[in-house]
Amino acid sequence: MSQFDLGVNREGSFCLKWDERKAVFGRADVIPLWVADMDFAAPQPVIDALVERARHGAFGYSGHDPRDVDAVVNWMKNRHGVEVAREAVLFSPGVVDSLRVAVAAVAKPGESVVVQTPVYGPFYSVVKDAGCVIRRNPLIHTEAGWQMDFDDLEAAFKEGARAIILCNPHNPIGRVWRREELEKVSELAVRYGAALIADEIHADLELPGHKNTSVSAVNPDAMAFIAATKTFNLAALRQSSALIPNPDRRKAFQDEMSRRGINGLNLMGAVAQRAAYEGGEPWLNELLTYLDGTRQAVEKYLAERLPMLSVSPLMGTYLMWLDMRALNMEQEALEKFLVEKAGLGLSSGVFFGEEGRGFMRMNIATPRHNVEKALEQLEAALKAEGLC
Ligand SMILES: Cc1ncc(COP(=O)(O)O)c(C=O)c1O
Repeated sequence: MSQFDLGVNREGSFCLKWDERKAVFGRADVIPLWVADMDFAAPQPVIDALVERARHGAFGYSGHDPRDVDAVVNWMKNRHGVEVAREAVLFSPGVVDSLRVAVAAVAKPGESVVVQTPVYGPFYSVVKDAGCVIRRNPLIHTEAGWQMDFDDLEAAFKEGARAIILCNPHNPIGRVWRREELEKVSELAVRYGAALIADEIHADLELPGHKNTSVSAVNPDAMAFIAATKTFNLAALRQSSALIPNPDRRKAFQDEMSRRGINGLNLMGAVAQRAAYEGGEPWLNELLTYLDGTRQAVEKYLAERLPMLSVSPLMGTYLMWLDMRALNMEQEALEKFLVEKAGLGLSSGVFFGEEGRGFMRMNIATPRHNVEKALEQLEAALKAEGLC
């Protein structure tokens, strides 16, 4: 039995995933497999560091401990094999905040920014909120899985797109991009003078057999945004890091942060991040093995009992992208069926863009028995409707 089989009872803690079910799905009893966080306690070294700092008792204005930067640099080097200079590391409350700042720093209102759809919903709003135009570069769904469309990407840059926001690994399709693919994106961005912005919040969640490559390793002018929040379940502590080696890009980013009043330290976020990077690795290794076991269980269940549904191969993230198009339901009817008949709270495919129609995203970062129960409920509901 793994520690992850136990999980943590989050009900009543005001967490979104469990406690907002009635508001979001209209039913408080769906199995919640939506918000991208985990039903697991953070690593013990993180909890200990927070308790120790809390015992100090004074929480007045504070600067960063220099070891906060060391922890990021060492994590990138030891875990990912990427050398990051200390001065390249900046802190930000969240990766979405960083994306918002980065887009405004590199593109002017009216200019276009590429996003590879389907993609995490806020990618659209950060572009729109900067007054920029979204240039979709849809991913192609092939027999061999999801691929980037490089010809269309080149066309986008030729048309004048100023930047691309990469999701690396990609939420919701679960792809870890190959180094050659990232090099190709980088080469095109350099050729056409576009900025390469990468959301790497899921980078640590590479499942066994898959190795994520940071854009920091392929393009010295890239802006990469990482966080310990997704990896170690610390999202409400609001802490992330920006890796920006190019001094001009870094200054533009910092200036835009200041303009938006994003400054100051979130003390407990910084404490948790450092503790996670310094002491959370054994927990993370166990987590990845556990998630991979759940991934295999889902794939087996679908193949044996629900073969009309398919799932994209999960390489990174704990988010499985379910292709439910074979059920021939309109998106609204599909969502209603999943909530009302199957008792499931999943993320709608259309949150990720029009390309997500007929798809649903299932978060498997919960004790495996919850996922198994969800699949059983789904099968029973499909049977009752004569759909399997
Ligand atoms: C790709 C991606 N980026 C960013 C975020 C959110 O990051 P933050 O809470 O640091 O803004 C998520 C959360 O689900 C995500 O999946």
